[in-house]
Amino acid sequence: MYGVDPNLFMNGVLAAVLATGALVLVATVLAAWLGCRGRVMSYLYMFTALFVTFGAVVGVLGFRGRGSDARPWHLFLDMKYQAKYTSQGQSRYFADGRSSRLPVEGTVPFDGTDYAADAGRHAAPNPDFLKADPRYYTGVANAAAKGPDGAPAKPAWVTTETAVALRFKPHGHWFGVRVVPPTIPPEKSVEPRLRGRWVGARVWPVKQSAAVTVRSTKLNETYWVNNLPPTAVERAGGWEALLKRGQTQFDRHCAVCHGASGRGGGGELAYGIVGAYGLSVPPANVVAPEIQTQPDGQLFGTVTNGKGAMPGYGHKVRDVLDRWAIVAYVRELQFAYGTPAVK
Ligand code: HEC
Repeated sequence: MYGVDPNLFMNGVLAAVLATGALVLVATVLAAWLGCRGRVMSYLYMFTALFVTFGAVVGVLGFRGRGSDARPWHLFLDMKYQAKYTSQGQSRYFADGRSSRLPVEGTVPFDGTDYAADAGRHAAPNPDFLKADPRYYTGVANAAAKGPDGAPAKPAWVTTETAVALRFKPHGHWFGVRVVPPTIPPEKSVEPRLRGRWVGARVWPVKQSAAVTVRSTKLNETYWVNNLPPTAVERAGGWEALLKRGQTQFDRHCAVCHGASGRGGGGELAYGIVGAYGLSVPPANVVAPEIQTQPDGQLFGTVTNGKGAMPGYGHKVRDVLDRWAIVAYVRELQFAYGTPAVK
């Protein structure tokens, strides 16, 4: 907006005025020393007084644009300076010396704080209040497993290869199959004998030609809990009860957008009511392969905290067990959809 930095400009003007003041002061001192008298002298005194006052004001208030750590002047005190108790402060009014009162016995904490245990009211704190098991309460297995961007590390699908050695010796005593993990060296092989004879199983070096490789893929746990915690199944009273509970909760909270089948979609293909009315981001298809391959903890995280355009449901589905039940039911929907990516 300005061609010149306004701070710099004003400070230039101030410096010029102060320099003029200094000159006038020197001139006044010189003139008084040389014995000047009369009208000139009174002008000089007047200007000196003006400039010195101005200099003193600038000296105290400073140049423009300068920061200061000093406490500001309050001619009328702000409200924050009124007399009050700060949290955890001390009070001489109450007999126990605390400024805050304890909650009424039996108060249910909103945020997981066990006030009663904090106050030493009971010896064994309720684990639900303390949320002592992060796997169950947050779906997080290893909170430190984060990518360079600070986002939870992607689940790692690890493929292991196992060699199976086959060898038959039809007229002798050899036959049989032995699974050979490629890492076991041949000298560690086991050759069981039965009644003094070799009966077959033998660890075969992988390099020998008859080895067949079996590939298996599994999900290595990183940030999210891989499998639904057993606590959830236990508390629900078994898988059947858990799934039933999950169905109720899913139909109540999720089906409105994702449809009772979980297939979501937008426009013509919309299964859920919101999708039908045109969201900018259509509700995801929760039975799609890319959701099937997510760890259970990640689904729990999506239900609790939301994801992208989807809001979190942690505050609505308040019971942790209900959220795990939803995860279990989503898995059932995926299975029912017929092409499970993970068996
Ligand atoms: C208000 C509508 C709405 C409701 C209700 C809703 N979702 Fe969603 N959900 C969405 C939308 C929209 C997306 C796509 C978000 C995106 O990609 O930005 C989504 C995405 C998802 C995803 C995919 C997340 C991913 O990793 O890409 C899952 C899983 C999911 N929802 C599960 C659920 C479950 C379980 C519930 C019930 C607790 C639920 N949603 C309730 C709108 C909803």
